[in-house]
Amino acid sequence: MVASIIILSIREIIMIKINSFSSFFVANWKLNGDFKFIDQFLDNLQVPSDNSKCIVICPTSTYLDYIRHKKNNFYVGAQNVSEHEKGAYTGEISCNALSDLNIDFCILGHSERRQLFNETSTDVSLKSSKVIEFKIVPIVCIGETLEEKENGKTNNILSQQLEDSIPVSSNSDNTIIAYEPVWAIGTGLTPTLEEINKTHQFIKNHNTKFENFKVLYGGSVNANNANEIVSLSNVDGALIGGASLNYDDFTKIIKD
Ligand code: 13P
Repeated sequence: MVASIIILSIREIIMIKINSFSSFFVANWKLNGDFKFIDQFLDNLQVPSDNSKCIVICPTSTYLDYIRHKKNNFYVGAQNVSEHEKGAYTGEISCNALSDLNIDFCILGHSERRQLFNETSTDVSLKSSKVIEFKIVPIVCIGETLEEKENGKTNNILSQQLEDSIPVSSNSDNTIIAYEPVWAIGTGLTPTLEEINKTHQFIKNHNTKFENFKVLYGGSVNANNANEIVSLSNVDGALIGGASLNYDDFTKIIKD
């Protein structure tokens, strides 16, 4: 009891100040990596000394503890968490467990979770509100499918996902939004720069509440296109899948 009070109060002191960073580069390793991979990746990764950039690595959950002990100018994030604090939920991971490991970020509502594991925006909102209680920053993912885009429904879908996935307790100090068009994930396809900037503007203008939120772009970000995407006026960083598994590519992305 006393120990958990101390841990919680330490977390309060070291809670990440999102607004102190100019850009975010979040590596989503998905279901990839093992000890050998992590050792090799971290031995070769060159993190810029410029600490206005926030670098976050999100490994599979079993490696969170290992990687947080090797932190060196980067933060560690989880890829998912349970909305339940404890109980009969076999296979789940709690916010308390993430907090015990001093995990600072948690990706929530990734399209793979929505599509393959049937997560709804309501689930995402419950999870987001729970991680915020534990002083962990949710990176809430939203994005349209190709069919929705082709039917001109992108903005409607994003509006609905924003309204239903972002909890009342979210604000620009405790929550990050990631726009990831589903059709751009792992396909090598991206929207045009103009489309990305416009969509991010739409997200920020959707509700005055979102005006100051950091909005990251994800979907086929690589060493060649990251710089021009992150330089867009309404883009505050990138959420990177495939290219974050290659230390040379990821080093280039975060250095540029
Ligand atoms: P890719 O960068 O492989 O397209 O994946 C994006 C993604 O899903 C990050 O969360």
